[in-house]
Amino acid sequence: MKPIGLHTINNEAYLHHYRLADLAQTYQTPLYVMDEAQIRKAIQEFKIYFKSEAFDTTVVYASKAFFTKEFARLIAEEGLYMDAVSLGDLYVAQQAHFPFERLVFHGNNKSIEELDFAISHQVGYIVVDNLYELNHLAQLINRKQKKISILIRVNPGIDAHTHEYIQTAQFTSKFGESIFDEHQMKSLLEVCLASPWIELKGFHAHIGSQIHEPDAYVEEIKKMVEFQNHISRQYQLDLPILNLGGGFGIQYQQEEKNIAIPEMMRILIQALEVAIQTTHSAIRQVMIEPGRAIVGPAGITLYKASQIKTTFGQKNYLFIDGGMTDNIRPALYHAVYECDIANKMTQPKEILVDIVGKCCESGDIIRKDVMIPRIDENDIVIVYATGAYNYSMSSNYNHLLKPAVILVGEEIRVLSRRETLDDLCKLF
Ligand SMILES: Cc1ncc(COP(=O)(O)O)c(C=O)c1O
Repeated sequence: MKPIGLHTINNEAYLHHYRLADLAQTYQTPLYVMDEAQIRKAIQEFKIYFKSEAFDTTVVYASKAFFTKEFARLIAEEGLYMDAVSLGDLYVAQQAHFPFERLVFHGNNKSIEELDFAISHQVGYIVVDNLYELNHLAQLINRKQKKISILIRVNPGIDAHTHEYIQTAQFTSKFGESIFDEHQMKSLLEVCLASPWIELKGFHAHIGSQIHEPDAYVEEIKKMVEFQNHISRQYQLDLPILNLGGGFGIQYQQEEKNIAIPEMMRILIQALEVAIQTTHSAIRQVMIEPGRAIVGPAGITLYKASQIKTTFGQKNYLFIDGGMTDNIRPALYHAVYECDIANKMTQPKEILVDIVGKCCESGDIIRKDVMIPRIDENDIVIVYATGAYNYSMSSNYNHLLKPAVILVGEEIRVLSRRETLDDLCKLF
């Protein structure tokens, strides 16, 4: 999927009025480029279409998809909530002056230090993953005597048909506690009820990522509303908030079926209204946590090509100057990306290659079996839809430098500068 600002003039790719080959030259490659208009459009769609007369709605940006200090400012300015998953996330959010009351703190193994920071800076919500964590939180909060709002992460056991590494709500998942484990639920509720400082507001579930099937969400909604009603009645608790998590799929490949944000939101809202109204539920606020759907399609990565190497076995490899260090997803999930040559957009595609990186791993493949035009040294390769889980999962394997990230709107903003060789030595 190409960002909305991408177009071709005379065989050359442009993002809005910037020629991609020029951006590659100015900011060096590899380079992450984000289309601001695409990001703002996705945010607007969530804000407009995830709305109901029957309950309040909150869009929480899942920052794990892409997070820099500067980007947190854009999310704050758009009025979204944001999640955080570590002390590092909390710290960067703080440095960005992100309003802490709009932070939702996640994680399946939060340390005392992380909980302490979150409480001291008054995060909006802590999503408690398990009983062990809740006990730690209760001890801490009882000492600090500060009120904290929590949601408990539960696992509704829904198979959302995604890759097994990104399925999170099956019974063997490491995340949350099962809604079917009554004993564990009782223990969790007892800890909450015993502390005057813990305000249990409701439950959270996240059923996976890159989900294209609205049915999975409809099932999640039915199960979660029913479950939350049941707990609320059993323990005579007011539980006003339900958080459905994120996972809304995007189109990585043209033939991939995809459901647009407005349509997906319309289905969610309808299912929620039916479930909440017909069961006379006390749920008054519903949260969702999109990450990929906000930043994924907006991002592209630019690489410099060097050569096509043809092996003795007649396999062609196009070598590029990045790889699994800036995009781990093909190696991790067998993710498939589309690509083009920025300076040869209309040229015929005549050679079958694997586009591979420069890391010491045979699995360092950015795209397998793809047709490309004839290549000259320093041609610029574009890989599409890399806005989510690329920069945020990037590494320094083989001491490669992390690329710069630029946000292209009317003007260009550097969201993260390119690392330098000195950066590689800063910890030693
Ligand atoms: C709890 C939670 N919420 C939201 C998300 C965001 O998912 P996505 O980027 O697929 O929307 C994730 C992703 O792993 C998650 O674990």
